[in-house]
Amino acid sequence: MKTVLVTGAGGFIGHHLVNFLVGRGYWVRGVDLKDPEYAATAAHEFIRGDLRLHDTCQAVTQGMEEVYHLAADMGGIGFISGSHAEITLNNTLISAHMAKAARDRGVGRFLFSSSACIYPTNLQTSPDVTPLSEDMAWPAFPEEGYGLEKIYMEKLCQYMTEDWRIPTRVVRFHNVYGPLGTYKGGREKAPAAICRKVALCPDGGEVEVWGDGLQTRSFMYIDDCVEGLFRLMQSEYSAPLNLGTDEMISINELVDIAAEISGKRVTKRHDTSKPQGVRGRNSDNTLIRQVLGWEPRIMIREGLVPTYRWIEGELARSQDEGVLAAAE
Ligand code: NAD
Ligand code: GDD
Repeated sequence: MKTVLVTGAGGFIGHHLVNFLVGRGYWVRGVDLKDPEYAATAAHEFIRGDLRLHDTCQAVTQGMEEVYHLAADMGGIGFISGSHAEITLNNTLISAHMAKAARDRGVGRFLFSSSACIYPTNLQTSPDVTPLSEDMAWPAFPEEGYGLEKIYMEKLCQYMTEDWRIPTRVVRFHNVYGPLGTYKGGREKAPAAICRKVALCPDGGEVEVWGDGLQTRSFMYIDDCVEGLFRLMQSEYSAPLNLGTDEMISINELVDIAAEISGKRVTKRHDTSKPQGVRGRNSDNTLIRQVLGWEPRIMIREGLVPTYRWIEGELARSQDEGVLAAAE
């Protein structure tokens, strides 16, 4: 069996990826600061460890043929715009130590999870933004902190291949959503946050939306995300590649879709004092179609249904538990 390490295996994408890889017959080791929050891991071995530390990275890469490096201090725009120093420092330590461990342990392939946050913010100032193609990344003007570490690490992957002959893969995720993703607590991204707000809203009530809601994004469902990760790892393509849909929608439309799924009538209350990030963002999928002969295909109307139902179920469950705890 091929041995694979998934860092960040206690997180949203990592947890789903572990399931996918185990299902494909890989021997999987997961590592994270924490266990997966909402379901048990399928990993053959799960190590609780801090990847900011050199020795942890050396230990977990031992004997691993492929590494999917997903661990990061990460969240939606509210989180990543709120603590630049902490996030930049944590992610730099994690990624640099993982890169060194990949070299020291001679791993066969190393995949780094980058982000659409590396794209120049000055190219994303309008809701009807030109879709971002891979060659638009430089000259760089990434999102502060989080985006800066990602683009630095993209370059390090290139150097690792050029200087050390380690095959690297770099994926630029566009906003990923789905069941088992963070939906409360401050790190949640727009799809989960909006589903939570709509689920908690009474019929005819108000939902708070950050910004004027005209800002745009493309959203990728988790099943497409893990499939794309796997396909890229198997490919021979080592330059950065977008992984997202090219279905651009406004945040107001996202709220409307969530409301439709819920069967409720809701009114939007826009709050322009909240973090908004770039004004518009979409993925140009020309290159992924050429390289992989495939692209994410699950549209938001389809993927938001299981996401909404899962969040609605979690909220109902935690309410039940709260009622039970209060009665005890
Ligand atoms: P997530 O927060 O659910 O998972 C990241 C995991 O990394 C968490 O479980 C966290 O505990 C772990 N981690 C953080 N610091 C660690 C440390 N010091 N040691 C060990 N583990 C540590 O996030 P996700 O959505 O699954 O994202 C996975 C990767 O994809 C990240 O690198 C993220 O930056 C990137 N990404 C995600 C998206 C998205 O929309 N989800 C978009 C762009 C990029
Ligand atoms: N989080 C959140 N919560 N966003 C909201 C909300 C809400 O309740 N209401 C409206 N929004 C708006 C935000 O203001 C922003 O304009 C848009 O929805 C998208 O917000 P996020 O999903 O939080 O983040 P993002 O798309 O700006 O960036 C995310 O995706 C990147 C990859 O594309 C982040 O997760 C980054 O870390 C990631 O790299």
